[in-house]
Amino acid sequence: MKLFLLLFGAAIIYSSEVLSKQERNVVNVAAYPTKLWKWKLIFFLIHGSFSDDIQTRIRAAMNEIASTTLTHNRPCIRFIERNGPNEFEQNYIYFQPSVGNKSCSSDVGMQGGQQDIFVDDTCWTKPQLMYHTLHALGLWDEHIRPDRDNFVTVHWDNIAEVNRNKFTKLTYESASLLGIPYDYTSLMHIGPYKYANDTNRPTLSVATPGMVIGQSIAMSANDVKKVQLHYHCGVDISHVPQPERLVDCSFERNICNMTNDPSASFNWTRSNTRRDHSNGQGYYVFAEATGNANEIARMVSPTLPPGGYCVIVAYSMSGNDTGRLEIVASDIDKSTVIQVISGRQVPAWEENKTNFISRLSWVLEISAYIGPSQTTGIAMDDVVVYRGPCL
Ligand SMILES: *[C@@H]1O[C@H](CO)[C@@H](O)[C@H](O)[C@H]1NC(C)=O
Ligand SMILES: *[C@@H]1O[C@H](CO)[C@@H](O)[C@H](O)[C@H]1NC(C)=O
Ligand SMILES: *[C@@H]1O[C@H](CO)[C@@H](O)[C@H](O)[C@H]1NC(C)=O
Ligand SMILES: *[C@@H]1O[C@H](CO)[C@@H](O)[C@H](O)[C@H]1NC(C)=O
Ligand SMILES: *[C@@H]1O[C@H](CO)[C@@H](O)[C@H](O)[C@H]1NC(C)=O
Ligand SMILES: *[C@@H]1O[C@H](CO)[C@@H](O)[C@H](O)[C@H]1NC(C)=O
Repeated sequence: MKLFLLLFGAAIIYSSEVLSKQERNVVNVAAYPTKLWKWKLIFFLIHGSFSDDIQTRIRAAMNEIASTTLTHNRPCIRFIERNGPNEFEQNYIYFQPSVGNKSCSSDVGMQGGQQDIFVDDTCWTKPQLMYHTLHALGLWDEHIRPDRDNFVTVHWDNIAEVNRNKFTKLTYESASLLGIPYDYTSLMHIGPYKYANDTNRPTLSVATPGMVIGQSIAMSANDVKKVQLHYHCGVDISHVPQPERLVDCSFERNICNMTNDPSASFNWTRSNTRRDHSNGQGYYVFAEATGNANEIARMVSPTLPPGGYCVIVAYSMSGNDTGRLEIVASDIDKSTVIQVISGRQVPAWEENKTNFISRLSWVLEISAYIGPSQTTGIAMDDVVVYRGPCL
């Protein structure tokens, strides 16, 4: 018989025999209160050495978790700044700068007493802060779910000994799935190259072709449900904020609503001959160097309305000459270079993220310039343009 399981914290052993059907639909986490935050209150402190900007962002991360998990307009959980030692505020999270090997880390579930969340400039975007905070609330990484082998393949041969434990599967006794299916789109899902020893090869790839893993934008609807069910709030996913994506292409099936500029000298073409950025095994587009010395390939977005945007492009360049990737915004008056990326000799995927504001309607143009020696082929994947500043 199947055990019914919790995706969170404590070692909880259920036997299906002792649970009625009703009980199996709603796991009684509250019977095991140790890793849940009492009264659904999470007291917090923020280390004074963080700049005002970072402190504001840490608060914004907590606010977004709280507002996104509102259940029928009532708070599910609340974050409250700790005033001082008293019987209610014994347990609290403490955002601190990373020190030594305690870097970008947060324990899963309420630990008791002061509970440190270590962050630094490699992990303090708002979505990353939400990820660490959700750990403290009790959410595990998605890729270690007990059933993960049906959804992802772990490439152990590319994971150094010291990082292997980051991929250790949870047991059905230590985690509950809350009836929520495996979620590739979870904020709690790492990307395909995380912890890679050889960064040209993935550590994770997906069983369902086309799925993109490792988003760092916002909680998914299932992430919201996990918090709401875990804290017994009921489910309400009517206000899960997602930025409006005017371009969002992983090139898995086609080049979406982008086009190759016919006035360029050659075209970006879809390929899957090497590992892609989306999931370690799918498609990307490639500007072939061989035969295209001093030529240009250009991909163009549809016309986008005026406004502020975040432009994200994943790229990878091999070879050693002067080829470059240019990201340009063009309106009726002028072209503005958003980014020029050149001189990369590591074929590993990298991501470039830039804020851009346009007063006029504009198009995004992404050009590959091939150098004279035809050695720098350029690959591109996961082009995203969403409204608002980069998160
Ligand atoms: C971090 O460093 C301390 C002291 O050097 C060591 O005891 C501990 O095991 C390390 N932790 C990890 C996760 O590597
Ligand atoms: C990781 O890379 C280093 C150096 O490239 C190599 O010596 C080591 O064997 C690799 N380990 C794994 C687990 O791939
Ligand atoms: C491009 O396609 C995406 C998704 O496929 C869609 O959401 C977006 O509105 C489209 N953008 C434009 C400008 O048509
Ligand atoms: C590139 O693609 C465009 C649009 O699909 C097409 O019009 C053009 O002929 C192609 N150019 C080359 C050199 O294949
Ligand atoms: C994007 O690329 C530019 C030019 O190489 C670089 O200065 C910038 O730091 C990159 N941004 C990110 C977020 O990678
Ligand atoms: C750099 O490119 C030249 C051709 O322009 C090639 O002969 C050489 O082997 C390349 N070097 C490396 C390290 O790739």
